[in-house]
Amino acid sequence: MKSLIAGNWKMNGLTGSASEVEALIGKFSGALPEDRDILICPPATLVATFASSFSDEGVIIGGQDCHTNESGAHTGDVSAAMLADAGAAYVIVGHSERRADHGESDALVKAKAEAALAAGLTPIICVGETKEQREAGKALDVVGAQLRGSLPQTEDEMTIAYEPVWAIGTGLTPTIADIAEVHDFVRGMTGKDVRILYGGSVKPGNAGEILAVENVNGALVGGASLKAEDFYGIISAAPGNV
Ligand code: PGA
Repeated sequence: MKSLIAGNWKMNGLTGSASEVEALIGKFSGALPEDRDILICPPATLVATFASSFSDEGVIIGGQDCHTNESGAHTGDVSAAMLADAGAAYVIVGHSERRADHGESDALVKAKAEAALAAGLTPIICVGETKEQREAGKALDVVGAQLRGSLPQTEDEMTIAYEPVWAIGTGLTPTIADIAEVHDFVRGMTGKDVRILYGGSVKPGNAGEILAVENVNGALVGGASLKAEDFYGIISAAPGNV
């Protein structure tokens, strides 16, 4: 399978931020590598313009969250069908910031993933333990329970992102052995065709080592995806077909 390097811009980015994506494409001399997928998930306000500007250049565009329903009286929410209509191909669901800030449960994350699939999007379903859970030796138990609760029962294409909560935005990362252990465990619970991304403080300096781990099929990158230089460094460090 191709590796997938996904940028999660979170609540960052205005129309002018398109210049970062242009700069990224420019660093590849206009031709993105074909042996890996490059995805940017900007805020919902930029999905349509980014998709129309950059899809033809080979940058895949995704959303960061979706509602479980296709339409209806849900002020402020965005449906998977709307993201698809705007040109998105992926949507992140169950990110730890949504689980924490919006109290999202595994059951809700599963319903969102199902809505994404119904709209023709590939969901990136996020799981990961807190610092306390890791220190208590419960990382695999937590990730296993989240997967059992959040994954739709289907053969449709899905992507999993293992993102230890304590590694997000902190500059901390698990040891390579710990990443390998969780990814092997996730592989055992999913099919061989499911891409399993690692996320949490991926930078140009650690991407090569992390992305070389077996069953790590790409990365979900927050802060370092906002700057063309850093995201380019991570994409360049990724193996192609994995
Ligand atoms: P980070 O965020 O790369 O800034 O740690 C990753 C994420 O939250 O997806």
